Amino acid sequence: MSGAEREAIVVIDFGSQYSLLIARRIRELQVYCELVTHDTPWEKIAHLNPKGFILSGGPASVYETDAPLAPAYVYENHLPVMGICYGMQLLTKQLGGIVEPVAEREYGHTILQLSDPDSPLFNELPVSSPVWMSHGDRIEEMPPGFRALAYTENSPVAVMGNDSGIFGLQFHPEVVHTPYGTTILKNFAYKICGCQGNWTMGNFVNDSLARIKEQVGNGRVINALSGGVDSSVVATLIHRAIGDQLTCIFVNNGLLRREEAERTLTIFRKNLGMNIIYVDASDRFLNSLNGITDPETKRKVIGKDFIHVFEEEASKLGKVDFLAQGTLYPDVIESTSSVSTASAKIKTHHNVGGLPSDMTFKLLEPLRYLFKDEVRQVGLELGLPDEMVWRQPFPGPGLAIRTIGEVTRDKLEVLRSADWIVMNEIKKAKMYRQLWQSFAILTDVKSVGVMGDFRTYGYLIAIRAVTSNDAMTADWARLPYDLLARISNRIVNEVPKVNRVVYDITSKPPSTIEWE
Ligand code: XMP
Repeated sequence: MSGAEREAIVVIDFGSQYSLLIARRIRELQVYCELVTHDTPWEKIAHLNPKGFILSGGPASVYETDAPLAPAYVYENHLPVMGICYGMQLLTKQLGGIVEPVAEREYGHTILQLSDPDSPLFNELPVSSPVWMSHGDRIEEMPPGFRALAYTENSPVAVMGNDSGIFGLQFHPEVVHTPYGTTILKNFAYKICGCQGNWTMGNFVNDSLARIKEQVGNGRVINALSGGVDSSVVATLIHRAIGDQLTCIFVNNGLLRREEAERTLTIFRKNLGMNIIYVDASDRFLNSLNGITDPETKRKVIGKDFIHVFEEEASKLGKVDFLAQGTLYPDVIESTSSVSTASAKIKTHHNVGGLPSDMTFKLLEPLRYLFKDEVRQVGLELGLPDEMVWRQPFPGPGLAIRTIGEVTRDKLEVLRSADWIVMNEIKKAKMYRQLWQSFAILTDVKSVGVMGDFRTYGYLIAIRAVTSNDAMTADWARLPYDLLARISNRIVNEVPKVNRVVYDITSKPPSTIEWE
């Protein structure tokens, strides 16, 4: 996109758990959207050419003394504004209205009745429809110049607006529980802010190719290729821009799944013609893991080994200017947002991108502003095979955190065979894409079984399959019984030393997706 065409909606974040979701929804409407903290100065966002602002919800109450405020430019620039929940209460207060606590917190579904169905915000909306509420304060008196556009049973002012394109919504249009929420957001973006909708992945790719060429010049770039979606898309995009100035380092840590290394190499080296250094460091990793049973220690050992191997290989290349990383927008937000409810980090996540701070490369992060689903679209745009684009996430420490207790070559082989069956059966049942992750775990439980006339004492394999949007929460997948039966039969018949299979029926929280 050239500078002239650039357009964006900026979400000012007051810490709602849904803030990032607002940005996603707007982007799904093909309008670029960024989330910024409420204390972000205008100079930091002017380059986006904002066409409007959305004030997010948040946990505060506007009448608390230190309640976060919307920056002055939100009102001074005469651009459209939509305040959602806390955002609505905030603009009420800042523009001279009155907000009061409600006797009883309103939470959940309620019916929105339009009192002004002709408002452009309500284009293609029925006069009554369900919306999702979650608030403890409400508008007692609207600011001067505003009128009520819709109401609910408990909120006489569920939507308000003025003639300058400033709107307040007491409910959350960004959540799926508000079925016409996307229509409202679309009306705001297109009819009120006048956006054109030029945020497409085709535009993104063209734009990125030019930017990468300009940023890298004649420099050299290295990338840690893991075969996961993010690192694969980063590598392909950069390769498309600068060809052989990119070298990828692919470390086999001995903790990959069956055929994983071979398949990744075939795609990138053979099919895409990339410069790839393949290092089989399995022995090193497995030796380091010898005798270790604690999950966090496993992660640390694997992370340390990875950095060593990567540094060793990188230093053989001579002068390298840039390190490419598959950082995505949610990571950026999590590390910059002061108010966002970043989830507690329960496990130290070792990502192949997490490299030492004393490395002197400049960072090249072309996916820094993308959501995961956008990364997949970019992958498709670049012609990556479906197998790569739709790959389920796989943790950096690999099978080490799915082998409970000590990790040995023998146990890894058992797990690989079981995992292979799970993956193939899930794919055959055409469920692979709809599951966030599906895999096998080798527990350190042994149990008694009987096979033919013999008593066995073998391993217990657990199957985990979950649905999720972002891995922060997950639900166990209701896999069909006959699929579970096939997986179980095949595992006990085809994988030696396994005589029992169980299915994990816990959600996250209270469990996690991985077992370690
Ligand atoms: P949990 O188990 O915390 O996992 O619910 C959430 C998501 O993160 C992945 N995961 C990891 N990824 N290094 C990674 O690169 C790790 O150490 C790690 N631990 C968990 C997990 O597969 C899931 O997608």
